[in-house]
Amino acid sequence: MKKNFKIFSGTANHHLAQKVAKRLGVELGKSEIVRFADGECRARVEEEIGSGTVFVLQSLCPPVDENLMELCLLANTLKRNGAQKLIAVVPYLGYARQDKVHRKGECLSAEIVAKIIESVGFEKIITFDVHSEKALRFFKIPTENLSANTVLAEAIRPSLQLRVREGKAPSECTVVAPDKGAMNRAREIAKVISAQASFIEKERDLLTGGLKIRWIKGEVAGQKIVICDDMITSGGTLVLAAQYLKAKKAEKIFACAVHPLLVKNAKRDLMESSIAKVFVTDTIPIAKEKMFAKLEITTVAPLIASAIENSV
Ligand code: R5P
Repeated sequence: MKKNFKIFSGTANHHLAQKVAKRLGVELGKSEIVRFADGECRARVEEEIGSGTVFVLQSLCPPVDENLMELCLLANTLKRNGAQKLIAVVPYLGYARQDKVHRKGECLSAEIVAKIIESVGFEKIITFDVHSEKALRFFKIPTENLSANTVLAEAIRPSLQLRVREGKAPSECTVVAPDKGAMNRAREIAKVISAQASFIEKERDLLTGGLKIRWIKGEVAGQKIVICDDMITSGGTLVLAAQYLKAKKAEKIFACAVHPLLVKNAKRDLMESSIAKVFVTDTIPIAKEKMFAKLEITTVAPLIASAIENSV
């Protein structure tokens, strides 16, 4: 049966877009994205658009600004070629950390990015585990913030090998948020795997980016630990949290995060850390050279496919 929607993809996560299209039984829309020698981008659609809803899948991961520009240019050409309703599927919404003016004199980047995305004709944006809900409030169009917490929790469960508990006996596992901002995520993941949740009090120096851990709520000695965060950027937060938890005599430490940015020395530092396994999703593609044995990737394609079906 002919579907009344089309999915186009930028170059940021073509592989994920293909998985989503396959689940939905459609081919990805044909488009061409070229870069001129000076870095300028040009997008072109190579098929009739029709009257259905058009989805454009593109993460705002590195190269962030180039990927943002591709998203905008694709939207522009789709609109020009007759798209009636455009929906942006942005599995990783970059710039969401800049959701407020942290220091006097700074710009409000998340607001500008929201305005740019709206200005090219998108009528809705679907994203995952946005760093800050506040960043979504800058959009005037509807936003849908999906969560990968359950798929991550299910991916981790077999490695934990938790015993079946009698009655209300405490779990041998604690899900730890590496800062208060990740506490809801820790609670949700803990609920799925029947563990308890806790958090670390972390402090980041806004000038140097340096991290300090003050304390953890509760006891972790002898526990299996899952540290959970929304993203892994340099890996510093997870590695520091793991060192701290190891010093507090945690038995075995796992980590999970939705968005694997894995910049700087993340691969080396995570490999050398006491973290046994790192679970992430494919909201951001991971280049071959950034892969490492402890890394396990779970796809969010089924969640995106359902969101697309529900949005048509
Ligand atoms: C910050 O608040 C985020 O939720 C993450 O904790 C942060 O981006 C992780 O960065 P890194 O891996 O560089 O410590």
